[in-house]
Amino acid sequence: PTTKVLVSTFLSFFLFLFHGASPAPVASVGAASEEGDSSALLAFKSAVSDDPKGVLAGWGASPDACNWTGVACDPVTRRVVQLVLREQKLSGELSSALGNLSHLRVLNLSGNLFAGSVPPELGSLSRLKQLSLADNQFQGSIPVELTRVLNLEYLNLGGNNLSGPIPAAIFCNLSALQYIDMSSNILDGEIPIRPDCLLPNLTFLVLWSNNLVGGIPPSLSNSTKLRWLLLESNFLGGELPSDGMFGGMRSLELLYLSFNYFRSPRNNTDLQPFFASLTNCTGLRELGVAGNDLPGTIPPVVGRLSPGLRQLHLEFNSIFGPIPANLSDLANLTTLNLSHNLLNGSIPPGLSRMQRLERLHLSNNLLSGDIPPSLGSFQRLGLLDLSQNQLAGAIPPSIVQCVNLLKLDLSHNMLRGVIPVGLSELSALFYLNLSSNLLSGAIPATIGEMDKLQVLNLSSNRLSGTIPPELGGCVTLEYLDLSANALVGGLPETLGSLQFLQVLDVSCNGLTGDLPRSMENMASLRLPNFSYNGFSGEVPSGGAFPGFPADAFLGDAGLCTRTASMASGLARCGGAKRRVLHNRRVVVPVAVTVASFTVAIIGLAACRAVARTASASVGRDGRRSTLLSYGGDEPIERGDHPRISHRELSEATGGFEQSSLIGAGRFGRVHEGTLRDGTRVAVKVLDPKTGGGEVSRSFKRECDVLRRTRHRNLVRVVTTCSQPDFHALVLPLMTNGSLESRIYPRDGRPGRGMDLARVRTRRPPVDGRRRVQLRGAAAGADHREAAD
Ligand SMILES: *[C@@H]1O[C@H](CO)[C@@H](O)[C@H](O)[C@H]1NC(C)=O
Ligand SMILES: *[C@@H]1O[C@H](CO)[C@@H](O)[C@H](O)[C@H]1NC(C)=O
Ligand SMILES: *[C@@H]1O[C@H](CO)[C@@H](O)[C@H](O)[C@H]1NC(C)=O
Ligand SMILES: *[C@@H]1O[C@H](CO)[C@@H](O)[C@H](O)[C@H]1NC(C)=O
Ligand SMILES: *[C@@H]1O[C@H](CO)[C@@H](O)[C@H](O)[C@H]1NC(C)=O
Ligand SMILES: *[C@@H]1O[C@H](CO)[C@@H](O)[C@H](O)[C@H]1NC(C)=O
Ligand SMILES: *[C@@H]1O[C@H](CO)[C@@H](O)[C@H](O)[C@H]1NC(C)=O
Ligand SMILES: *[C@@H]1O[C@H](CO)[C@@H](O)[C@H](O)[C@H]1NC(C)=O
Ligand SMILES: *[C@@H]1O[C@H](CO)[C@@H](O)[C@H](O)[C@H]1NC(C)=O
Ligand SMILES: *[C@@H]1O[C@H](CO)[C@@H](O)[C@H](O)[C@H]1NC(C)=O
Ligand SMILES: *[C@@H]1O[C@H](CO)[C@@H](O)[C@H](O)[C@H]1NC(C)=O
Ligand SMILES: *[C@@H]1O[C@H](CO)[C@@H](O)[C@H](O)[C@H]1NC(C)=O
Repeated sequence: PTTKVLVSTFLSFFLFLFHGASPAPVASVGAASEEGDSSALLAFKSAVSDDPKGVLAGWGASPDACNWTGVACDPVTRRVVQLVLREQKLSGELSSALGNLSHLRVLNLSGNLFAGSVPPELGSLSRLKQLSLADNQFQGSIPVELTRVLNLEYLNLGGNNLSGPIPAAIFCNLSALQYIDMSSNILDGEIPIRPDCLLPNLTFLVLWSNNLVGGIPPSLSNSTKLRWLLLESNFLGGELPSDGMFGGMRSLELLYLSFNYFRSPRNNTDLQPFFASLTNCTGLRELGVAGNDLPGTIPPVVGRLSPGLRQLHLEFNSIFGPIPANLSDLANLTTLNLSHNLLNGSIPPGLSRMQRLERLHLSNNLLSGDIPPSLGSFQRLGLLDLSQNQLAGAIPPSIVQCVNLLKLDLSHNMLRGVIPVGLSELSALFYLNLSSNLLSGAIPATIGEMDKLQVLNLSSNRLSGTIPPELGGCVTLEYLDLSANALVGGLPETLGSLQFLQVLDVSCNGLTGDLPRSMENMASLRLPNFSYNGFSGEVPSGGAFPGFPADAFLGDAGLCTRTASMASGLARCGGAKRRVLHNRRVVVPVAVTVASFTVAIIGLAACRAVARTASASVGRDGRRSTLLSYGGDEPIERGDHPRISHRELSEATGGFEQSSLIGAGRFGRVHEGTLRDGTRVAVKVLDPKTGGGEVSRSFKRECDVLRRTRHRNLVRVVTTCSQPDFHALVLPLMTNGSLESRIYPRDGRPGRGMDLARVRTRRPPVDGRRRVQLRGAAAGADHREAAD
């Protein structure tokens, strides 16, 4: 200690000699700086109004700020160099005292609930290299003072409520910037990159979902290290970049210009120069130019895009002409979205060369001809949407070879023939829509084997015969529409085992008989429609029946009720009617039958009319508001297909209690349960005793399919295949989720180690155009997949 004091005194004296000032302030600078850091941190803490996780509670307990949670110091100078408090639910305003942490190099407060403005004092953090305030609720404009932080390499302000223009000096002064994310704010004005301002190291430019106008600044072509250029969902316009812009960007990986107002050259008719200008970008993995109302044809040069291209999005344009055969040169494509265009001609059979395809959207076009049988060779295809075209011919039986198919939509075409019996081999399928075609024949009984099916729509076809009782095997069904066909016979008793069914539409058929009493067990049923059939007898009064809407029973003259509480306008059973029946034993039943047939025929016309208006109301510019969106809940998210222990399953189902039993079939029982994290699941327990070897085989097959499936991101099917005497399949229930969110999980976070693009619900469209944000989700899926 004595030596220290001596040295210090000597130093002070020495400094005094040189500066001619009092030694006291000089000595206090060194000491006060560390203290200044702690006092700045305490000022930051005191402006935090809520700290639910208590991460800041320990601050101040130790006098040494360097071991406070989230704080890191330089080991030599003991100055605070890093403050990282991510996703801690901290709220309040950001203290301007942070500007006093003059040695700070990393400030990361992303994913909290901070509000108010971004303090201009942050501009004094001259050593700062990384700044992330992403995913908070900051408002106001981006402080121009930030442009004094000349060493800044990483700047993330995405996912806030920042408004006003982007300060031009950000692009001009901060030439070291590698990463800029200002996505998902309400920034306006142009992208201010001047020709004299170089951003040689810019690698990620992420500005999607703002209100930016103007064109893509030509000087961006000097940023040849660019890997991500994400500009979708803005109001950008001008001509699509053609020669020069991307020629030098050999590292470009993601280019998204979707949902803007870009035009193509030559009076917006020629897409060739744009695609040609990208042929040098040999690393391009995803390209999105959807939603720009672009006319023109898809030029054959599209086949010369990077062979590594994984996603191509051209949906919501006015692209016409045929799908060029050259497209199938893109052998590594996983997602192709050409829906909502004016494409005509037939589907090129050569598309099947794209063997890695996982999602194929060709819906809402003018495609005609047959569905090429070669599509059956897509081994990885999970989603096939050919709806709303003019496709004819039969459903090719080869389709059942797409073993990984999860979603199949062939609705609103002119398909004929029967539903292939083998369709049930698509054992992973959870969405099947064949509605509004000209399909005939019976509903194959094998459909009951599709026990992962959640949506089945066969409405508005020419299907005949009876409803197979096997349908009761589709235990996870939530939506079932068989309306507007020519089905006869009764409703099978087994419908009662569809415990998750919410929507049941059998209207406009020739169905007869009672409504089975087993339907009182259908706990989830909310929207039934029995109208315009020949049903008769007493409507069950238990279960959810009293709550059914009045129009569920229209035009079923033979139905009656004994319960006054059923506000359905149904006739009362018994009473006067019964006497009449008794007196005129023969005439009345005949009259009733004739009457109900007449009503049924009128009803059928009414039904068809309704169906027509429904499909007519589907504009070119929007998705049908399908009944699939039950709610806006977040999708089930349980990381990467974890294994769930027998114990957790047992807990979830209350020890496989009888009360959690929601169905039983030949191969076992299905229980409903809630996992520890709140995920609602159906647990299918396969009983080795009753089925013997057969169970094992069928179970192995199911497990194999699940293991092979490449779509873990699409549907989380969780398996516990390993236990020798306990076999269960765990399937997520989508009671509160929506199917779309299941297919495109919103947890997509592309890139690791940086909080890059987030997927958020967009603000309501300003101009009524659909401005959606799916890119992040898609990219996220791919990234995760790459990591598998
Ligand atoms: C920040 O620094 C200024 C001057 O450098 C000082 O007046 C102020 O008290 C400091 N704030 C905190 C909270 O330490
Ligand atoms: C802070 O440092 C002291 C001693 O340097 C140590 O005993 C204590 O455990 C540290 N606290 C934390 C939270 O690391
Ligand atoms: C740009 O940087 C210079 C220092 O190089 C600084 O003086 C100037 O204020 C900065 N510009 C803006 C708009 O902050
Ligand atoms: C975002 O800012 C706008 C005005 O700039 C305001 O009307 C809106 O309420 C803010 N939204 C949130 C979530 O703070
Ligand atoms: C760009 O990056 C290189 C290599 O990391 C570096 O040497 C150079 O200084 C950076 N340029 C600017 C303007 O920061
Ligand atoms: C690229 O940078 C140079 C300066 O190095 C500049 O003269 C040129 O105008 C820039 N290019 C574009 C297209 O802005
Ligand atoms: C591709 O790069 C070469 C060499 O750098 C250049 O001459 C050519 O113009 C570029 N092509 C396009 C379409 O930009
Ligand atoms: C663009 O359209 C205008 C009229 O609409 C026409 O006069 C002009 O020649 C067209 N230009 C090209 C390049 O086709
Ligand atoms: C399109 O494919 C044909 C036949 O494979 C080929 O001759 C032609 O060069 C391709 N066009 C382009 C632009 O790549
Ligand atoms: C494309 O896929 C092939 C295999 O079909 C593979 O060998 C090749 O490396 C892939 N190319 C890129 C750029 O990913
Ligand atoms: C493709 O476009 C359709 C619009 O028809 C949209 O619903 C779907 O989400 C898009 N899918 C992807 C992966 O981009
Ligand atoms: C800052 O936060 C982002 C996520 O928001 C993270 O990816 C990044 O690694 C963080 N940086 C540091 C230095 O902690």
